[in-house]
Amino acid sequence: MSTAGQFKRAQGARGHFFWGSLPDFKNDPIAFFEKTVHDYGDACRLRFGPVCAHLFNHPEYAEEILSKQAENFDKKTRSVERIRATCGDSLLSANTQAWQRHRKLIQPIFQPKNVMALKRKIDQIIEPTLDQWLIKSRCGEPINIVDEMMKLVITISAQIMFSASVASSKIEAALEIIIEDTWRRLEAPLDASMISPIFHKPAFKKAVAQIDQIVFDIIAERKSNKDTNDDLLSLLLRAHEDDGELGLSDQELRDAAVTLLLAGHETTANALSWAFYNLAQARENNVECANMEWVFAETIRLYPSIWILERRAKWRTEIGGFEVPKGSSVLISPYLMHRHPAFWLDPLAFQPSRFDPENMKNRPRNAYLPFGLGAHRCIGLNMAKTIALCVLERAEERFKLTLLPNQKINVKPSITLRHSGPILMCISD
Ligand code: HEM
Repeated sequence: MSTAGQFKRAQGARGHFFWGSLPDFKNDPIAFFEKTVHDYGDACRLRFGPVCAHLFNHPEYAEEILSKQAENFDKKTRSVERIRATCGDSLLSANTQAWQRHRKLIQPIFQPKNVMALKRKIDQIIEPTLDQWLIKSRCGEPINIVDEMMKLVITISAQIMFSASVASSKIEAALEIIIEDTWRRLEAPLDASMISPIFHKPAFKKAVAQIDQIVFDIIAERKSNKDTNDDLLSLLLRAHEDDGELGLSDQELRDAAVTLLLAGHETTANALSWAFYNLAQARENNVECANMEWVFAETIRLYPSIWILERRAKWRTEIGGFEVPKGSSVLISPYLMHRHPAFWLDPLAFQPSRFDPENMKNRPRNAYLPFGLGAHRCIGLNMAKTIALCVLERAEERFKLTLLPNQKINVKPSITLRHSGPILMCISD
């Protein structure tokens, strides 16, 4: 281990002379990170082309980066910059001032009391989906749980955000295009839209125009009538009343709504698909799975939707005595941390009973961070848990889902932790 100034320099693979570790990362990011921490420990220095990166894999380092020393890092990362075309300046923005204003106004909306009030709405949407599963299964048609969760969560999200007052199928169709194209651009190394917004795909531009039109129309309608809705948009519209501060402008409301839909959709849908997959496997292996809260918690331990968190060092700093140069990308992987053998017993086994409060006493703080940590901690975590519990509990009450045989499901790490293909299930008697 060499030293840089008074700090140590973390070690890591040198990789290709020009590309560094980029080819290994592109080939299989999770395998590459697993090998890196195995070979070099919990603090590793890497190079991706010209970009210096540090991977930290210890709860104390995570707390330093995301909480204690958060002012030394920002979110001016490639993905955050690219998301701006869809979300504007809101909660996913690298613009600190815009983020702070949105966080202050939006955070109170997600308090448990408001989220619980939406539970009835969520339950009503789930039942027809479960009815359809029953019909499909009776006709011998498999249920592709990945597609089903994507569709169900988008319907739930659109309803929670805007209520049934608008043509929800129109919203859902436009949202689907926006979400898909945003993810595609985030994953593409180069995209013409980076040069100018005129190069965005026509379908994306059309969908954005549609959503804007719908959202602005609803805002205008709600402002002109006495607004008695209990959906998120109405809560956002009223977000300034308590402290007399200026509320969100129409553009800010639109940006906040799209941000929440984008941030909440695929994360929740993927987590739910993994939950159904785990439940079915656990049942085959006689693992105790009665408590759905623990099932969900254990699912996002093994399969955290946001599998990697990224920050950028604003200036030269240190983490755990390791030098982090100015501009270095800093990575923390909930996926690796949740499977770290130093903090989890039998880390690869699916055991919901880990989340029995009795069994949680000896776990180190911050070894579990599926919703992140510090000021940027997931604002929608209560919402995500409520949606997930409603879906899992309703489904479990109605029937048991089993996996069709001979399926090999692997993780496919993208911006979120996806599945390598469809997960086909059927209803067992
Ligand atoms: C299982 C589902 C979910 C998981 C695992 C998840 C995970 C996360 C994580 C790890 C972060 C922190 C990112 C960082 O520090 O860079 C985050 C932030 C965020 N999440 Fe979630 N999330 C989920 C669902 C939701 C839902 C349902 C919503 C909206 C209703 C939402 C909205 C957001 C927003 C807006 C942020 C940015 C917060 C900020 O920077 O202030 N998420 N989420």
